[in-house]
Amino acid sequence: MLEMQGLRGGYGPAQVLNDVSLSVRAGEVTAILGRNGVGKTTLLRGLMGLLPRLSGRVTLAGEALAGLPTHRVARAGIGYVPEGRQIFPELTVTENLAVGQRSPSRLWPAERLFGLLPNLRERQRNAGRSLSGGEQQMLAIARALVTDPRVLLLDEPSQGLAPMVVQELARILRHLAGEGVAVLLVEQNLRLTETVADRIAIMARGTVVHDDTAAGFRAAEDELRHRWLTL
Ligand SMILES: Nc1ncnc2c1ncn2[C@@H]1O[C@H](COP(=O)(O)OP(=O)(O)OP(=O)(O)O)[C@@H](O)[C@H]1O
Ligand SMILES: [Mg+2]
Repeated sequence: MLEMQGLRGGYGPAQVLNDVSLSVRAGEVTAILGRNGVGKTTLLRGLMGLLPRLSGRVTLAGEALAGLPTHRVARAGIGYVPEGRQIFPELTVTENLAVGQRSPSRLWPAERLFGLLPNLRERQRNAGRSLSGGEQQMLAIARALVTDPRVLLLDEPSQGLAPMVVQELARILRHLAGEGVAVLLVEQNLRLTETVADRIAIMARGTVVHDDTAAGFRAAEDELRHRWLTL
């Protein structure tokens, strides 16, 4: 569904992404693990057209996306749940969902959206700032879904969430993959990653150093953790 080939780029003269190639398939959760600062967030920002400098190829179902402005990338079918959620604290849930929506969602009308994210249903008139961390994360996901994405990018969605809420997040991501969405999950939470991912890639120094099925990851987990993930 989403193909990346030879992506390079960064913020200034220093290269952060150094030849990233990765495939994200429809109906699967693809996870990216990696130590702090290896370029995971930069990769997602690059995909969304939010990076000052990016070269290489990005295609979504064959359509070239690299170099397009963010709104065109979103319109092509990529939803983005950024690090730290970035919801609007002064706006209600309903208003947060309306921002950035060009037209009413075709794929995620209210019934389907709140069926998937039941905790948000009762909170529709509440301000973003009054939501719990978990509810804010669900809102960030909802805001991405109402743009009708075929691919959903999530940057460390479990950060700061209680274990129960992380379980709920796992359920939601599996459900989305089951509905055919291509999910690209950047995580530090190994437990969540192993619970939900079909494929697990590891980034180091701006490139993908390992890319395999979740089963393949588990088979080599001790070595991979020691080599690429622990400090
Ligand atoms: N806005 C920015 N301007 C310049 N350099 C940046 C900027 N954001 C990140 N960097 C640098 O790019 C590199 C990769 O950062 P990035 O945020 O992509 O890492 P990450 O893998 O997401 O790390 P983390 O696990 O901490 O979220 C780091 O060296 C970082 O200092
Ligand atoms: Mg990051």
